Amino acid sequence: MKVIILPDAQAVAEYAATQIQQQIARRADSVLGLATGSTPLHTYAQLIERVRRGKLSFRAVRTFNLDEYLGLAADHPQSYRSFMDQHLFSHIDINRENTYVPDGMATDPQQACADYELAIRAAGGIDLQLLGLGRNGHIGFNEPSSSLGSRTRIKTLTSATIADNARFFHADEFQPHLSITMGIGTILEARQITLLATGESKAPAVQAMIEGAISAACPASILQMHPNVTVVIDEAAAQQL
Ligand code: GLP
Repeated sequence: MKVIILPDAQAVAEYAATQIQQQIARRADSVLGLATGSTPLHTYAQLIERVRRGKLSFRAVRTFNLDEYLGLAADHPQSYRSFMDQHLFSHIDINRENTYVPDGMATDPQQACADYELAIRAAGGIDLQLLGLGRNGHIGFNEPSSSLGSRTRIKTLTSATIADNARFFHADEFQPHLSITMGIGTILEARQITLLATGESKAPAVQAMIEGAISAACPASILQMHPNVTVVIDEAAAQQL
């Protein structure tokens, strides 16, 4: 596990954007694993800027998002599909057909999970997976106690995660308690992983992930076993190391 501690969230975003840019420079038709949440937003802004300046192109890139809320349609403002369209895809030269997000309205969600795994495999696997980190150590929506070998499946969100994400929903709006998420086993198959965490609220999870025992109690701790992980954090998130 390579741990990079940078002064602030902006520096974290620049570092992550450069890793993605280098991956695409190595292979124009790279397969990227992408994440939602507020942490990668600065990274996406950086990528948009680099595309705008002609330094980077997503023309041949394929992307797979980690997760989606079960019960939200793609065009629902709080769906992760909408999030990705709004914060990245609609601003870059990617072919929308090459962007995959689990289908939160699938009539057979279990089949949709199996199909998502097959689609990742058919694309040749993920070259670089971007991850955020939940305050409880989750990655994707793999909450504490998730099986460390799990595949894409339906997961119930913990009350802590529901509370953390409530800020994105209006008080009177339906907030799903279920999700479809890549499994921990799925994530570990990515050839390279970049995990981002910023801010003081992530410091305990960062400490458990890097210095704690490998345990389903902190799903991100399994990343200690992966041969090619870069954890990019700011000083605030590093303060308990
Ligand atoms: C959600 C997402 C995760 C993300 C986490 C942290 O639960 N499913 O992929 O890493 O939130 O979000 P934030 O970056 O907003 O702290």
